[in-house]
Amino acid sequence: MANNAIITLENVSKVYDDETVLRDITIEIERGKFYTLLGPSGCGKTTILRLIAGFADATTGIIKINGQVVNDVPPNKRKVNTVFQDYALFPHLNVFDNIAFGLSIKKMPKDQIKIKVAEALKMVQLSGYENREISEMSGGQQQRVAIARALVNEPEVLLLDEPLSALDLKLRTDMQYELRELQQRLGITFIFVTHDQEEALAMSDWIFVMNKGEIIQSGTPVDIYDEPINRFVADFIGESNIVPGTMVADYKVNFVGKEFECADAGIKPGEQIEIVIRPEDLELTTVEKGKLVVNIDTQLFRGVHYEIIGYDKEGNEWMIHSTKKAEVGTDVGLSFEAQDIHVMRPGETEAEFDARLESYEG
Ligand SMILES: Nc1ncnc2c1ncn2[C@@H]1O[C@H](COP(=O)(O)OP(=O)(O)O)[C@@H](O)[C@H]1O
Ligand SMILES: [Mg+2]
Repeated sequence: MANNAIITLENVSKVYDDETVLRDITIEIERGKFYTLLGPSGCGKTTILRLIAGFADATTGIIKINGQVVNDVPPNKRKVNTVFQDYALFPHLNVFDNIAFGLSIKKMPKDQIKIKVAEALKMVQLSGYENREISEMSGGQQQRVAIARALVNEPEVLLLDEPLSALDLKLRTDMQYELRELQQRLGITFIFVTHDQEEALAMSDWIFVMNKGEIIQSGTPVDIYDEPINRFVADFIGESNIVPGTMVADYKVNFVGKEFECADAGIKPGEQIEIVIRPEDLELTTVEKGKLVVNIDTQLFRGVHYEIIGYDKEGNEWMIHSTKKAEVGTDVGLSFEAQDIHVMRPGETEAEFDARLESYEG
């Protein structure tokens, strides 16, 4: 275990009634980084936060904070605070009283509370808002009050459960920058939950991709985007072209009836695989120069690029992001580099996947 692990979950599962909602979760959270739990609704993200915060008990497995087993430690004795999805602010209290609430319960002296609240408001750029009613604040401001209310307790870890999902797109983007900046400025560990892949890619040092109660893949945003372990991750994170193929030899694959150089090895020749190529890695070229030929079916202008869809002779759909236009109904060539071809093995676990990458990336 790394020395600066602040939270670890070891083989944690959670069963409600007869339903297993978390299965064999093992994760390690290091101090001072921005982590994201990313996955579709119902995959168990909130349940992981509740286990870490102590609002629910693990059915099996061990949870540690700072190396100490905390399975039986109550929430208020863990140096962890949660920002809830709906903020859970008290609507009848003003900003000051919302933030001061926890400190008053702990019987902190009044003058000290005043200083702490002012500090917390400064951190979220709401200095001077002490006397505002919650109902007079915008969604983004309420969000910041909720964060200030968590920060005033000086947590070592801040758990944020889809805190931006109630905000409109523009504000959400602004708050992404703000939260990331806040985390880096304070150096507190953030565990952030979202179902939004762009949000996860933009904000995180490290992402855990979840599905149906399991961690499917973990890594940096670039790792996960560039080397999705399977169809679920490739589809969930970004746009992907996925076609069936066969491994020919190390660094050689066959798909759409042709052989291509690739960057993958360590898979036995003849094994059925799936090929992923990202739309932005495909370039339009002439039929003669194309490694693949597709017939253009549709084209949409997306502001920065055209989103073009074509079909190859086997009927596979290909999405291309290009600053160049194509003409619907015509054949065009597609070119790409060997390293743009990503090979996936159906059913491969993350451990097997990591071992394979290590074996030929050295
Ligand atoms: N208190 C509970 N009792 C029974 N089932 C629950 C409870 N809390 C969550 N679940 C179930 O656990 C699964 C995961 O829920 P949750 O962790 O909230 O997912 P997410 O936050 O990823 O949307 C869901 O199927 C949900 O219905
Ligand atoms: Mg949730």
